[in-house]
Amino acid sequence: MRQLMETAAVWLAARPEDVCRRAAAAMRCERPARPIAPVASTTASRDLATLVADPQGELMQAFVAATPAFAWREPPQKDAGNYLVGRSAGNVIIGPEGAFPAEDLRFGAFMISPETVYPLHAHAAEELYIVIGGSGRWWIDDAPYSPRQPGDVVHIPSWTPHAIRTDAEPVLTLWVWMGDVSFESYRFEPAGFDARGIPI
Ligand SMILES: [Fe+2]
Repeated sequence: MRQLMETAAVWLAARPEDVCRRAAAAMRCERPARPIAPVASTTASRDLATLVADPQGELMQAFVAATPAFAWREPPQKDAGNYLVGRSAGNVIIGPEGAFPAEDLRFGAFMISPETVYPLHAHAAEELYIVIGGSGRWWIDDAPYSPRQPGDVVHIPSWTPHAIRTDAEPVLTLWVWMGDVSFESYRFEPAGFDARGIPI
């Protein structure tokens, strides 16, 4: 996981956007590692198989190398109304629960299955997604869905409503939260999307 963290930090540091360089600097702070038990994800194993079999690019290759150490989490089955149950998985490498503890930063991987909607939501943390495999479409604030491919960075300012959709293929990202990284502020938008979770 350290190699994935370092590869992502170097990649972000080379980007022109200030937010990417800030994220890279935060990720590079020296942090002692602690042991985290790996947890497999049936959703990630199933829907990332094609991407993992032929990893394209340094970030995807670093992701594949780190895969055995990931502690994947999926939305709990009890949240049956959640559009992402059985259709997404994420992990935290840097963060309060990560292998590299931090209180003001989260970094990890996040995937969404094909033909899935991640409904409009917002949170206090400033967020970056780096698309490393597959493709997805991001809705940010009032800007309609825009397709993003591997190598694209998506910046979500603090408290900005955003949603993600996938089509025929999954999307695999590396994600960063900065600032207030607690989940206490995390909320789905109570209005503003239709019954399928599509923003209206
Ligand atoms: Fe988000």
